[in-house]
Amino acid sequence: MEFDHVLSVRCSVRRYTEEPVSEEDIQKIVKAGEEVPVGHFDFKNYAIAAITDKKVLRLLAEENQALSGRGDPIYGAPLLLLIMNTPEAREDSIKLNAGIMAENMHLKAVDLGLGSICIYSFIRTLNREEGYGKYFQALHLPEGLKPAMAVAVGHTPMVQRERRFVARIPTFRIDGKE
Ligand SMILES: Cc1cc2nc3c(=O)[nH]c(=O)nc-3n(C[C@H](O)[C@H](O)[C@H](O)COP(=O)(O)O)c2cc1C
Repeated sequence: MEFDHVLSVRCSVRRYTEEPVSEEDIQKIVKAGEEVPVGHFDFKNYAIAAITDKKVLRLLAEENQALSGRGDPIYGAPLLLLIMNTPEAREDSIKLNAGIMAENMHLKAVDLGLGSICIYSFIRTLNREEGYGKYFQALHLPEGLKPAMAVAVGHTPMVQRERRFVARIPTFRIDGKE
């Protein structure tokens, strides 16, 4: 897909079908998450898990419902990309680096014609729990990793449409001209 088109059809998708994301697409999305700039070249202190295990995703939805009352935080998406950091990651850069990884994967999912959304709510809720929650313990990942940010991906009944651009963020142009 042409880059400007990806940007204009990108939106947060909150409706998914049960159709699984192909292994090929999962690999492309994870690769996009790795093709990022990371402050201080701190790559070794980050990790990405691609989760399609339905038991884990169900556990996540149940735990989130019990703790926040808001149900499934990933809206039934069949694929969850979990971005994590080690305790050695520079504290002031974790959300920045994780956010960049998330956006790269979000955009790659759009490029592949899939629905996707960046998610932080359950990370905030469940990182307060022992071991970052039961869903996280069920992943059996190396010791020390902590969830930082997430992206949900899946096929969606929503049609990708170019959105009318709405300027929401103040921008300034400083070029020194009078
Ligand atoms: C850092 C970050 C965290 C987000 N966390 C959530 C979330 O937990 N749940 C959710 O439904 N949307 C979440 N979103 C999606 C935003 O709500 C969404 O991007 C915003 O409303 C703009 O809509 P759009 O993406 O369709 O343009 C998050 C987005 C970002 C960038």
